[in-house]
Amino acid sequence: MAESRPYIIKEQPGTKYYCGCGKSQNFPYCDGAHQGSGLHPYQVEIEKEKTVAVCGCGKSAAMPFCDGAHKA
Ligand code: FES
Repeated sequence: MAESRPYIIKEQPGTKYYCGCGKSQNFPYCDGAHQGSGLHPYQVEIEKEKTVAVCGCGKSAAMPFCDGAHKA
């Protein structure tokens, strides 16, 4: 994980792959760095344009999205 706060992103519709291993150089998106780790990205379907808060601290119980756990 790269940050102790969420990534606020205005997403366009489509399939998104958010990093679940913390090794991506393009965080919060998967860049394939998880290969061989046994970990996988979170696949999320965005149906219409919306702003999302992607977890940057790794503590959220609602991965891949922020639930405010970074404040604790
Ligand atoms: S690079 Fe982290 S899940 Fe793919």
